[in-house]
Amino acid sequence: MTIEVHPFAAGCGAEIRGVDIRKKLSAEDRDAIRKAWLDNLVLRFRGVPMSDDEHMAFTRQFGELEYNPARLIEKQYGVETGQSGRKTEIPPEISVISNIVENGKPIGGLGDGEAFWHTDSSFVDVPPAASLLRSLECPPPTSGGSTYFLNCYTAYETLPEATKQRIDGKIMVHAATHSSGGIAHKGFEHVDDVSKVPGARQPMVRTHPETGKKSLFLGRRINAYVLGLPVEESEELLDELWGHMVQERFTWRQDWQVGDLVWWDNRCAMHRRDAFDGSKRRLMHRTQLKGTRPM
Ligand code: OGA
Ligand code: MN
Repeated sequence: MTIEVHPFAAGCGAEIRGVDIRKKLSAEDRDAIRKAWLDNLVLRFRGVPMSDDEHMAFTRQFGELEYNPARLIEKQYGVETGQSGRKTEIPPEISVISNIVENGKPIGGLGDGEAFWHTDSSFVDVPPAASLLRSLECPPPTSGGSTYFLNCYTAYETLPEATKQRIDGKIMVHAATHSSGGIAHKGFEHVDDVSKVPGARQPMVRTHPETGKKSLFLGRRINAYVLGLPVEESEELLDELWGHMVQERFTWRQDWQVGDLVWWDNRCAMHRRDAFDGSKRRLMHRTQLKGTRPM
């Protein structure tokens, strides 16, 4: 079988066809998929409804599985996140993203609101290299819930030269205080002074460990802080960088269908999600691949 790679017109994303990813891949297909992923940052496989076991088995062919973010936060910060009443029968390598409430408890994270632009779990020292999100139930795109992906290589490359020089070698804090839905993680007090925020110290310009390319690495906006700068100056610089980063020309929009699997490179792509009609059910399961310390 030969895989087909169909890049989208936007700055990132490609659809992969011609391979059944529920079956063990040949070495050739696996390598071709990996190359397509590194080249395109985000891959979509359409029409492949699968089980959690198949999802994990597919993921494992590309590296080691990472635990869900609640576990990562608890491990690094020693707090109880209480972010989602996860169903116990679901393995800890699967994150549930859903607005569904059962017996008065949300079965997953993120609810039905907007998820702001972010990199997954960059508030821990070693964030996951990749996330693979699969759709089990979703409302039609007219009800919202689309997910957008952004090419952080291009965002970096198109910065003015002076800005590149200004951020080169700088470290910032990716705050651990909030989820991408803007909800405070349980266990973190209110932050008045962002220069004292708990979080991971990350390089503002990140070099991809496999492609060697540089990207703009901002994590998320809330409570972010550039080390060594007065707070006001840090806020100004971050606002300027976010203004540049979040441009439609760097982004691709995924309108979900049941049976989609979308796999993004968390080291060079960011994502956000539209809010959606809360009377509709949306259920996604996600695996992640372990990453390395950003440099
Ligand atoms: C995620 C995420 C967006 C969505 O799984 O990391 O941000 O579309 N999901 O649910
Ligand atoms: Mn996310």
